[in-house]
Formats: sequence, structure tokens, C-alpha cells
Amino acid sequence: MYGLINQAVKEMVVEGHGEAIWEKIRLEAGVVDVFVSMDQYPEEVTDKLVRAASAILHLSPSDILAGFGQYWVGFASRNYDYVLDMSGQDFLAFIKNLNNMHARIGLWMPDLKPPSFLVTDETPGAFKLHYRSSRNGYAPMVKGLLTGLGERFNTDVTIDHVRGADQGLNYEEFVVTYAIRTQSAIL
Ligand code: HEM
Repeated sequence: MYGLINQAVKEMVVEGHGEAIWEKIRLEAGVVDVFVSMDQYPEEVTDKLVRAASAILHLSPSDILAGFGQYWVGFASRNYDYVLDMSGQDFLAFIKNLNNMHARIGLWMPDLKPPSFLVTDETPGAFKLHYRSSRNGYAPMVKGLLTGLGERFNTDVTIDHVRGADQGLNYEEFVVTYAIRTQSAIL
């Protein structure tokens, strides 16, 4: 996993809970303090960080991952907005472009092992999303990412994780409903 991910986890913890709590979490996880964004770190570094954050912040690992997914959209906007900007101007267009976006990112991150996404059963305001990954356990992060993307595109989103590896599938399936927020008229 690129260091960029662990660096963003650190930023999220420091921003939300301060340096002292970060220090506690990283000591509990037994990981370094400074991550080099373009270096590769074993997958277990990220897993240990999530587990330690869960123990110290008294939140489930799923909640940590979902919070991180949501945080990641803001982190990416602050650091790579041009990449997000090129990848779609509304919620659904952006989701449909996620594979292309990671493929483009793969040009400057050649060791990237990106997830893949497929939109199916599209109806006005709803679709199913299939998420495939070489990793296990990141489905809650996808929920958070979709919530963060809803915020980016001023869109109300509900996400249900309906089935996946637990049911023997080789992908995770989400049912997503969405509605662009309308500005209420000022009378
Ligand atoms: C500029 C924006 C983005 C950058 C630079 C980026 C980059 C990355 C990187 C470096 C990883 C770690 C994988 C590895 O090191 O092999 C990753 C994983 C991931 N990305 Fe992106 N990403 C971006 C935006 C997004 C967005 C908007 C989504 C929304 C769905 C997304 C979904 C994921 C997921 C779910 C993973 C977890 C790994 C997995 O499923 O195997 N990414 N991305």
C-alpha cells in the first residue's frame, strides 16, 4: 500500500484528536511516525493502524474505515483536486469514472493495486455498485467514500451494503440511492 494512505490516516487522527492521541495510536500499532507517500508499506501497517485507532478511540474498525473513506475525499480534494476535477462533474458520472481515475493515478503510482467498480441496475436516483478489490475488509471504507463524494457533489446519498464475500461473492454489492440537493427558496 502506498504511504499516502497511512499518511492520510495520520492526518485524520491528528486533525480530529490531536498529536498525543496519534502518538498513542501509532505506538500501539507499532508503526513509524512519518510515512513517505510514494513508498510501499506492507498491508498490515494500515490494518494495524485501523485496529489501534479502533481500540484507542473506542470505535469499531468499520467506523474507523468509514470515517477514513469520508475523510479521504476531502484529503484528495486538498491535495489532488485536479485529478478529482477531471473525473466527473456529478455523483453518478464520477462513480462511473472511478476505474479510469485510478488507471490515470497508476501512471504516476505504478505499483498501485486499485479497486474496481461497476454500476448496474441503474434507475433514476438509484443504482447498484459492485466493488472488487485484491484486499479484504475495505467495504466500510467504500461506504464512507460514497458519503464523501455525495458531499462533494451536493448530493444526498444513502448506501446499503447488501451482500459480498460473506455470501460467497467475489465482490461487495451496495445499493445506492441519491438525490441532488436543491436550494430551498428564501421567501
Ligand atoms: C485523487 C484521488 C485518489 C487517489 C490519489 C487515490 C489513490 C489510491 C491509493 C494510493 C490507494 C492505495 C492502493 C495501493 O497503494 O495499492 C487507493 C485505494 C483505494 N481507493 Fe483510491 N484514490 C483516489 C480517490 C478515490 C476515490 C474518490 C475513491 C472512491 C470510491 C477511491 C477508492 C479507493 C478504495 C476503496 C481503495 C482501497 C483499496 C482497495 O479497495 O483495494 N479512491 N487509492
